[in-house]
Amino acid sequence: MPRLILAVAAALVLLAGAGAHGFQIEEATMDTIQQGFRNGSLSSVQLVRFYLDRILSLNPLLRAVIEVNPDALRQAARADAERRSGKCPTAGVLHGVPVLLKDNIATRDALNTTAGSLALVGSKTMRDAGAVSRLRRAGAVVLGKANMDEWSNFRGLHGTDGWSARGGQAKNPYVLSADPCGSSTGPAIAAAANMAAVTLGTETAGSILCPASLNSVVGIKPTVGLTSRAGVVPSTPRQDTVGPICRTVKDAVHVLDAIVGYDALDAAATHAASKYIPHGGYTQFLKKDGLMGKRIGVPNGFFTFPNGTVQQRVYQQHLDTIREQGAIVIEYLDIANLSDILDTLNNGQQIALPAELKLSLNAYLAGLAYSPVRSLAEVIAFNNAHPVEEKLEEFGQLIFLVAENTTGIGATENAAISQLKMLSTDGLEKLMKEHELDAVVAPNDALSPVLAIGGMPGITVPAGYGKLGVPFGLCFGGLKGYEPRLIEMAYAFEEVTKVRKTPTFKP
Ligand SMILES: *[C@@H]1O[C@H](CO)[C@@H](O)[C@H](O)[C@H]1NC(C)=O
Ligand SMILES: *[C@@H]1O[C@H](CO)[C@@H](O)[C@H](O)[C@H]1NC(C)=O
Ligand SMILES: *[C@@H]1O[C@H](CO)[C@@H](O)[C@H](O)[C@H]1NC(C)=O
Ligand SMILES: *[C@@H]1O[C@H](CO)[C@@H](O)[C@H](O)[C@H]1NC(C)=O
Repeated sequence: MPRLILAVAAALVLLAGAGAHGFQIEEATMDTIQQGFRNGSLSSVQLVRFYLDRILSLNPLLRAVIEVNPDALRQAARADAERRSGKCPTAGVLHGVPVLLKDNIATRDALNTTAGSLALVGSKTMRDAGAVSRLRRAGAVVLGKANMDEWSNFRGLHGTDGWSARGGQAKNPYVLSADPCGSSTGPAIAAAANMAAVTLGTETAGSILCPASLNSVVGIKPTVGLTSRAGVVPSTPRQDTVGPICRTVKDAVHVLDAIVGYDALDAAATHAASKYIPHGGYTQFLKKDGLMGKRIGVPNGFFTFPNGTVQQRVYQQHLDTIREQGAIVIEYLDIANLSDILDTLNNGQQIALPAELKLSLNAYLAGLAYSPVRSLAEVIAFNNAHPVEEKLEEFGQLIFLVAENTTGIGATENAAISQLKMLSTDGLEKLMKEHELDAVVAPNDALSPVLAIGGMPGITVPAGYGKLGVPFGLCFGGLKGYEPRLIEMAYAFEEVTKVRKTPTFKP
């Protein structure tokens, strides 16, 4: 192990000098990248080369990436040529920028889209995922596919964070033995360790907010329907959402701006959420004084760190800072039904989710242009036929088996779905309205079960590092469509705290 780390350290020293005409690529934001493009100190090809080298040297250790795109350099060259020819006067901030995608976000190119599973290797989609078509239209370069909890951790009950049969075990770049969280593990690690400019993840309940927090990057979990889920290997359309994981709030906002909007292939949800998209996009909410006058609730039950811990002290400091920035912090609030929401055996999820998983996954698999497996039943059979590679004994596939036993959304499932909606209405939604809150705050992904059932958004920002150096984040959550004010608060918080440090690969 020490030798491996030495080798990585040596590779990093080499890479640190690998800028382009002095352009510092490590930690570069999209705005500086565009400045570099404009003043000629950086090209998109140089940028892609940097990240490909970086993946080559770091991925054996971190396993954040499953595949790199054999077409990435060509796409970069085309972006460079377009820029030089002046053919893209309206080119936006994503033009020529390499983006890494979680492996459940489909691309119609040489890359596989497998949700980490060997069962989907070789499958071909009819088209790019909705979010990917938007990124390509914005001129982004598809750099590759990132590792994840296989099937977003909806296969069995014992999956470990960041493991997939295709990608192996991903590692937290701050403390290699620490939990990297999931299921968008690879995107978060890759963003943290500068293996891509920006990344996309997906969340059903915590899959963006948790890995972003534990890998010291910014994650935006958008309101369900704000971003299209078409072409994403689904868990439940009731909760699934696609969002950015980046090193800064501003970068994440740039990516969000590019991917939001109506998609005929995810019509109902994207139509319903399109009313939330502000005219002129989201960058107008990047305000240094974004905390001024905001009403921020601190619900009981989440900041549960004992006195004397780093987390207890640092989160307390952050709440003070937030107050100093002009926000009204209202502590000791109760989400009235929090224990019912967190009661995963009885809250309705165990009835609704398996049925939704089977329907949506079967529809995804049936809609592929080619696939070795065409249904959940065939995925289950594949796992049974490949027990060693798929670690069947260790991780099981009980969720899949339970899902396969369901027979659609009937009266029982509809009752469970109504129950979940009611838990959201009577819970966080009621609390926020009663106290006229702009947001609630909590550590890491602690809010995610509460946000998930209401399709509500959250943004996590790096907040600190624990005793052993493991990162933690502060999450701002709000009602559907609250992205503008969450961005204001998250950006102002990031500006005043500037907590993020680059990873040091401690064992
Ligand atoms: C070009 O812009 C980048 C990013 O702001 C900066 O680091 C670099 O020094 C600039 N180079 C020149 C030649 O202006
Ligand atoms: C996709 O999977 C196939 C089959 O394993 C492999 O040959 C191919 O190289 C993969 N594509 C990429 C871009 O890695
Ligand atoms: C933690 O410290 C605060 C302030 O000193 C004190 O009021 C509180 O009772 C302590 N809590 C515990 C659980 O010890
Ligand atoms: C699926 O249904 C069969 C038949 O009712 C039953 O024997 C089996 O235990 C069920 N499996 C699961 C995982 O619920």
